[in-house]
Amino acid sequence: MGLMIFVCVLLCVLASAPTSNGWGPEGHYMVCKIAESYLTSNARKAVRELLPKDAIDLASVCSWPDEIRKQQKWSTMLHFVNTPGVCNFDYNRDCHSNGVKDFCVVAAIKNYTEQLETYQHSPTYNLTEALMFLAHFVGDIHQPLHCGFAADYGGNIIPVNWYDVKTNLHRVWDDNMVQKKMNDSFYGDLITMAKELKMEIDSQDYYAQKVNEWKACGNDGFACAKKFASESIELACALAYQDVHPDCTLGDYYFTTRISTVEERIMQAAIRLASLLNKIFSNIKEGSSPKISQILRSVSKSVDK
Ligand SMILES: *[C@@H]1O[C@H](CO)[C@@H](O)[C@H](O)[C@H]1NC(C)=O
Ligand SMILES: *[C@@H]1O[C@H](CO)[C@@H](O)[C@H](O)[C@H]1NC(C)=O
Ligand SMILES: *[C@@H]1O[C@H](CO)[C@@H](O)[C@H](O)[C@H]1NC(C)=O
Repeated sequence: MGLMIFVCVLLCVLASAPTSNGWGPEGHYMVCKIAESYLTSNARKAVRELLPKDAIDLASVCSWPDEIRKQQKWSTMLHFVNTPGVCNFDYNRDCHSNGVKDFCVVAAIKNYTEQLETYQHSPTYNLTEALMFLAHFVGDIHQPLHCGFAADYGGNIIPVNWYDVKTNLHRVWDDNMVQKKMNDSFYGDLITMAKELKMEIDSQDYYAQKVNEWKACGNDGFACAKKFASESIELACALAYQDVHPDCTLGDYYFTTRISTVEERIMQAAIRLASLLNKIFSNIKEGSSPKISQILRSVSKSVDK
C-alpha cells in the first residue's frame, strides 16, 4: 500500500512537471508519419540513410529532441520563440534566448536545413541529429503557443482546468486536445487519426485546395520558418489565449471551436516538412545502383534473344 501511494505520488509529480515543449508525442508522430507519405524517392532514400539504425521510420524518432532536452539543455530554447506580448512576429526582435541572438525555433529550422543541405558534400555536423531536429521543430513551430507571449512562457504558466483535470494552457494545445480528439473519434488510435488527416489532405474539398498555398512559403527554410511563426502568434492571439484566464475551466466550447485548427496545423506541418525535405534532397546524385531504365533495357534485350 505504502509503495502504491509512493508510485502514485511519483507519477503525479512527473505528470505535472511545469513546462512542456512541443506537440506531445502524438502530434509529432502524426506530423512525421503524414510527411513521410509525401516524400519524393530521393528524399525517401536520404531520410532512410540518415535515420538511426534501429529506427522504424522518421515518425518513430520525431520526439527525440524532447527526449534529450534534459541532458542537452542548450537545445531547450530551440523549441519555440515568443513575442513581448504582441500578436505579430519580428525575427530581429523576438529570436533570441538569454541575450544570445538568433537562438530560437526559427533559427533552428534555418540551421538544420542548411546542415542537411551538406548531405553528400562532406558534412561537418551529425545529419542524423539534424534530420530529427528539423522534423521536430517544423512540428513545434506550428503549435500556436510555440510562438506565444514571453511573459507567460507560451501559456506554460497559465493554469487551467481541462474539464476536471488541472493542467496549463500550453499543455492543452500540446496534448489534451489532440488526445481528446483521438479518443472521441478514432478509438484512441494514433495511426487511424494520422490516416484520417492524410485522407483529408488528399480529398478534393477544402484541404486539397489549400495544399499548394501551404507549400508556397518562399525558397528556403528561413523564409518558411518566419512565415510559420507569424501564423502561430496570430492563432495564439485569435484562439489559444482567447476566452482564457488563470484557473478557468476549458471544456466542450473551447474544444469544438479550436480542434479544427489543431488538426489543420498538424496537416500543414506535415506538408511543409515533406516539402522542405523534398527540396533539400532534390539534387542528390544517383548512387552506383543501376537506373530503372538500364534494367528495363537489359530485360528487353534478353527478351529479344
Ligand atoms: C545549430 O546546430 C548545432 C548542432 O546541433 C548546434 O550546436 C547549434 O546550437 C545550432 N544553432 C541553432 C540556432 O539552431
Ligand atoms: C549521430 O547522432 C546519433 C543520434 O544522437 C548517434 O546515435 C550517432 O552515433 C551519431 N553519429 C556520429 C557519427 O557521431
Ligand atoms: C483517453 O482514453 C484513455 C483510455 O480510456 C484514458 O485513459 C485517457 O484519459 C483519455 N484521454 C483523454 C484526453 O480523454
